[in-house]
Amino acid sequence: MVLTDGFVTLRPPEDSDVEWVVRSCRDPENQRWLPLLPHPYERADAEWWIGRCKRAWADSSAAPFVVLDSATGDRLGTIEIRTGTSADVGYWLAPEGRGRGAMTRALRLLLRYSFEERGVAQVELFTLLDNVRSQGVAERAGFRLDGTAEGKIESRDGTRHDALRFVLRVPTKSGGW
Ligand SMILES: CC(C)(COP(=O)(O)OP(=O)(O)OC[C@H]1O[C@@H](n2cnc3c(N)ncnc32)[C@H](O)[C@@H]1OP(=O)(O)O)[C@@H](O)C(=O)NCCC(=O)NCCS
Repeated sequence: MVLTDGFVTLRPPEDSDVEWVVRSCRDPENQRWLPLLPHPYERADAEWWIGRCKRAWADSSAAPFVVLDSATGDRLGTIEIRTGTSADVGYWLAPEGRGRGAMTRALRLLLRYSFEERGVAQVELFTLLDNVRSQGVAERAGFRLDGTAEGKIESRDGTRHDALRFVLRVPTKSGGW
């Protein structure tokens, strides 16, 4: 499954991504805002993640993608939607992928795919209370803030953090995003 808007291209993670995933998941911003990421982040963690992505595609439990620059093929970040009783999205950018609008574009592409091809009716997105950059992505992609979710985000050490809950419902024909 490959999605593109001409600026970013989304494709499923591959074994050859492993070193880039290790490097990117060691980035302090990703470590700070994704408290469930292993620390230190090792090659085995990236190999596990890529294997999990393959299983998720096989059993349709999630749709994980690597985000590429369409012009150069450079890897910029990852994004995924986890489907089930409720659907939620998660994402990160490598440092070199930030500050160019790539994640807002990737999220819009993923949402369109989820609504049109997966029959998803509503998507949730949870951010730490002070993750302003991620909240900006959510708002630009059309999510609306729906309050605080107590203890929603788990850390690798088991502690829990409150989160802001953003929601996006399937657009009506006259609406859109
Ligand atoms: C959250 C995260 C993905 C946001 O990255 P980002 O680069 O700010 O988001 P976007 O890709 O939407 O880019 C928007 C930025 O690009 C800028 N930009 C530059 N050129 C642009 C263009 N042509 N089009 C749109 N935006 C552009 C925008 O001005 C904006 O920067 P600003 O907020 O300083 O004004 C990133 O900070 C990250 O990886 N954080 C760590 C992991 C994380 O928090 N994940 C989410 C957990 S909930």
